[in-house]
Amino acid sequence: AGDISTTDRPPIGVIGGSGFYEFLDDVAEVTVDTPYGPPSDSLSVGSVAGRPVVFLPRHGRGHTLPPHRINYRANLWALRALGVRQVLAPGAVGGLRPELGPGTLVVPDQLVDRTTGREQTYYDGRPRADGQLPRVVHVPFADPYCPVGRATVLDAARSAGWQPVDGGTMVVIEGPRFSTRAESLWFGREGWSVVGMTGHPEAVLARELALCYTALSLVTDLDSGVEVGEGVTQQEVFTVFARNIDRLRLLLADAVKTLPEDQGACRCGQALADTER
Ligand code: ADE
Repeated sequence: AGDISTTDRPPIGVIGGSGFYEFLDDVAEVTVDTPYGPPSDSLSVGSVAGRPVVFLPRHGRGHTLPPHRINYRANLWALRALGVRQVLAPGAVGGLRPELGPGTLVVPDQLVDRTTGREQTYYDGRPRADGQLPRVVHVPFADPYCPVGRATVLDAARSAGWQPVDGGTMVVIEGPRFSTRAESLWFGREGWSVVGMTGHPEAVLARELALCYTALSLVTDLDSGVEVGEGVTQQEVFTVFARNIDRLRLLLADAVKTLPEDQGACRCGQALADTER
């Protein structure tokens, strides 16, 4: 899979969301196979301000994969195989409160999993072909996101004049349908901030691979329970996300430049330390 994994500067992984299919100029395309099958697309390997970066479009470059069909295990595995230790994960979300309107950037600190039937572990009790992983592991997930990654993104966003929202809970639904008005109102009453379809199991698989993982949630709509009228449409999500892509790209570049070179200041890299029996 290329020689990037042998550089002494580990690359930062960026997983692009809806309509976000290119991040780097001057790239090499790398095809990676994994024990879990192929990732969403080939990975682009390049650099931002001298820092190596690997980019993967979450839905594939033609946006062919709906959220429930994405091979999250393969995606995270492929990034890890290329040497990635820190992942920045932008994605479109609905805002669950009136003040979290379209264009708001939320950097969540909590997650609620409402997905069903997605493969959400590498440790599923089956021996793996390469025999390298133990079968049963329960990773700590009380704080699903990397505190260093979050602080870095928030700083970069503030410097760019973005007024990001620091913290909040992302509820991840199975999709591909949007929520009913009742579901949406319920999520809001629980105090959750944003709703998306891809933030899980991405976050937990990153944790199982001891990667730092930071979600950048771009609000594209007010979901269905908050606004009067018809509720969110697919068109709205894509239009608003597209309108913010350039800003998001600049923000990610700034975050890449300022992320620390190693995982030293957080516990993400030790996620597996106390897991084996
Ligand atoms: N992604 C963008 N907007 C969304 C919404 N309202 N619900 C779920 N996922 C979304």
